[in-house]
Amino acid sequence: MPQTVKGVIARSKGADVELVDIVVPDPGPGEAVVQIQSCGVCHTDLHYREGGINDEFPFLLGHEAAGVVEAVGEGVTDVAPGDFVILNWRAVCGQCRACAKGKPWYCFNTHNAKQKMTLEDGTELSPALGIGAFIEKTLVAAGQCTKVDAEADAAAVGLLGCGVMAGFGAAVNTGGVGRGDSVAVIGCGGVGNAAIAGSAVAGATTIIAVDVDDRKLEGARAFGATHTVNGKDEDVVERIRELTGGFGADVVVEAVGRPETYEQAFYARDLAGTVVLVGVPTPDKEVTLPMIEIFGRGGALKSSWYGDCLPSRDFPMLVDLYRQGRFDLDAFVSERIGLGDIEGAFHKMERGEVLRSVVVL
Ligand SMILES: NC(=O)c1ccc[n+]([C@@H]2O[C@H](COP(=O)([O-])OP(=O)(O)OC[C@H]3O[C@@H](n4cnc5c(N)ncnc54)[C@H](O)[C@@H]3O)[C@@H](O)[C@H]2O)c1
Ligand SMILES: [Zn+2]
Ligand SMILES: [Zn+2]
Repeated sequence: MPQTVKGVIARSKGADVELVDIVVPDPGPGEAVVQIQSCGVCHTDLHYREGGINDEFPFLLGHEAAGVVEAVGEGVTDVAPGDFVILNWRAVCGQCRACAKGKPWYCFNTHNAKQKMTLEDGTELSPALGIGAFIEKTLVAAGQCTKVDAEADAAAVGLLGCGVMAGFGAAVNTGGVGRGDSVAVIGCGGVGNAAIAGSAVAGATTIIAVDVDDRKLEGARAFGATHTVNGKDEDVVERIRELTGGFGADVVVEAVGRPETYEQAFYARDLAGTVVLVGVPTPDKEVTLPMIEIFGRGGALKSSWYGDCLPSRDFPMLVDLYRQGRFDLDAFVSERIGLGDIEGAFHKMERGEVLRSVVVL
């Protein structure tokens, strides 16, 4: 029997979010219904609300979640009712040309639930990043569920479902940060701080945090930044060069998604260094770079989809690091809120007051 539960939607561009009744179908073949325990408020939810991702309103927001599997559909063998899972938004297909080449983190055919959750009048919802987890129960593809240690705090480990995994993976998987590297991270929100923490775990010795908000820079130190630069007061490229012996950083992670910060990243890396773009630009943004500089500086300009992660490999590993006290996921949780508090959490995010507001159910 389909269930009716409470969830949070963005009905139209820019309008305040609304807590409404949502109909969740029983899981079909390959699908699972998950009882949500926690869901972080990510900047991407705000991008959806503002129409910056696409126009497929109404959106069921929320995608950074953990919960317990309630029911599974036909043919599901990897997870079972009662399993504690983190939801992921790139369920690997195993068959596309990327998967066939042994690079499943690039999977070009990731999948979501086939059935749609709807409003009571039958209007189909577009779940944010194919998840939609600001809701009591959600319907996903079973491959979007990764089973992890049930002892872990849902509010903390749920954040691995998006921003923290994206940031950690941007540094470690995409950027290949290793022992002794210098790293600069531009933008110290949830994503950027996770890139800083990941760089520290990977053994980077110089970790430069860049933001335009001193509160964020103070926070970044707690995650492992060895130096901070406030882009409002200082020339970011010059400062990063000064802090790296005059050369620039081996890896620069851009975690804002704006042309000016991308340019800073481009010029603030050492010769043959790597730029990782993990911030998501809106479709109107453009950069212009001298082609001779692209050639002359060598190295790599990379983008990081979801931190180039493999949920089945990376989520349990990060939960282990967390439980061993080597990766402080709790520090990302600024506040615990209810489903009715999401609009307020967006404003706090815009004012830079929080790293992550986490809805706890
Ligand atoms: N690639 C992915 O898979 C992925 C996954 C999750 C989020 N994201 C994206 O990552 C970005 C960051 O997400 P978040 O949740 O950390 O957002 P956030 O709003 O919490 O953090 C952004 C930070 O950037 C800082 N900032 C803004 N302008 C700046 C500037 N000119 N110079 C330096 N710092 C500046 C802000 O002060 C803030 O601290 C967003 O674009 C989000 O959509 C990407
Ligand atoms: Zn694939
Ligand atoms: Zn996100």
